[in-house]
Amino acid sequence: MAEDKEIFEATGISTWGKLQDGPESKLFEPAKVGAWSLQTRTAMAPMTRCFANDKTGVVGEDVARYYRKRAADGVGLIISEGIVVSPRGKGNPGVPGLYTREQIEGWKKVTEGVHAEGGTIIAQIWHVGRLSHHELAGDLPPQAPSAIRAEGNVARLRKPYDTPEEMTLTDIQELVGQFAQAARNAIEAGFDGVEIHGAHGYLIDQFNSDASNRRTDRYGGDLAQRLTLTKEVLKAVIDAIGSDRTLIRFSALKVDDPNYMWPDPDSAIRTFTEAFREAGATMIHPSTMQFTRVLADGKTMHQLVRKYWDGVIVGVGTLDSQTAEQALAEGTIDLAAFGRPLLSNPDFIHRLKNGEPLEEYDAKQHLGVLV
Ligand SMILES: Cc1cc2nc3c(=O)[nH]c(=O)nc-3n(C[C@H](O)[C@H](O)[C@H](O)COP(=O)(O)O)c2cc1C
Repeated sequence: MAEDKEIFEATGISTWGKLQDGPESKLFEPAKVGAWSLQTRTAMAPMTRCFANDKTGVVGEDVARYYRKRAADGVGLIISEGIVVSPRGKGNPGVPGLYTREQIEGWKKVTEGVHAEGGTIIAQIWHVGRLSHHELAGDLPPQAPSAIRAEGNVARLRKPYDTPEEMTLTDIQELVGQFAQAARNAIEAGFDGVEIHGAHGYLIDQFNSDASNRRTDRYGGDLAQRLTLTKEVLKAVIDAIGSDRTLIRFSALKVDDPNYMWPDPDSAIRTFTEAFREAGATMIHPSTMQFTRVLADGKTMHQLVRKYWDGVIVGVGTLDSQTAEQALAEGTIDLAAFGRPLLSNPDFIHRLKNGEPLEEYDAKQHLGVLV
């Protein structure tokens, strides 16, 4: 974790049983969610792979093949790896972008392949904020709500994070515009929508957290006020492409602070969901590494979210098939997302349906290759 925190540690996912694939199985039923007609109620969780051309941020045929295989396998909603909205949004070498003509053309090959297999794919749009270094961020200091340096090293570059530059009101306006433009570019590239990366301690989440946001203007203050940027980005993206094509991810997880948890999870979740509703969102993706972890009142993160949210909820976090089926049946979640098992098994859905053993995810073995 210390060396490369976004690359979450491998967990031994070895206890997968054969699923009920009879009429009572919800996981494999087709579903209409937002604007999307999905093959199944499964989703591929967004996973940074760093296979784009490092200079241009353009993805190639290898990336197209990788996503196409998952669509052919029957994944319902493919959420792409994080794709940066501007050069300064980049925090790892080899991360793709969605702000140049060439990048849009590169993504067209990916979306065409997925659609040829009957799949659905959305782009996760991302800005890492202070979790970067000027060598990655176009020779400029990284941007953040306040000039507070994060502890730790930039993944893969292995240099300490730079002290970021505090964003001005003009910078913030520009950033909101970059997210909206990236969403329009995603649609032009053939994506079926976007997921806004508002989680894991990256830029949007840096505004949400009092550890990284000490602003005294309208973007700072209590949690509801710190969520102002989240709301503005959401509104701008929804205005650009519609709420039925827009998903937002959020979390208490932070790559630069693995021990972080909201002081009062129930109240934090109520405040987040109020902000999402106010901005017009209808689909949300609460992110945790452990779906079954109880946060408050005997409830897990997704159960707490369901208390306050009638719309679409995507579940994630070391999910196994039985837990996913149960959460779908209870109505806690509408889609079940899988990350690491889908990274190491291009035919994960097939294996799950048929109770076949899975190739266990191993960061050392699987991160360097696209299977
Ligand atoms: C290699 C790797 C890269 C990841 N990259 C991203 C990312 O770009 N954006 C994001 O929101 N989450 C990212 N995550 C987190 C996953 O989306 C997911 O939430 C996490 O792996 C838990 O799901 P799992 O237990 O099914 O793997 C990444 C995880 C891994 C293992």
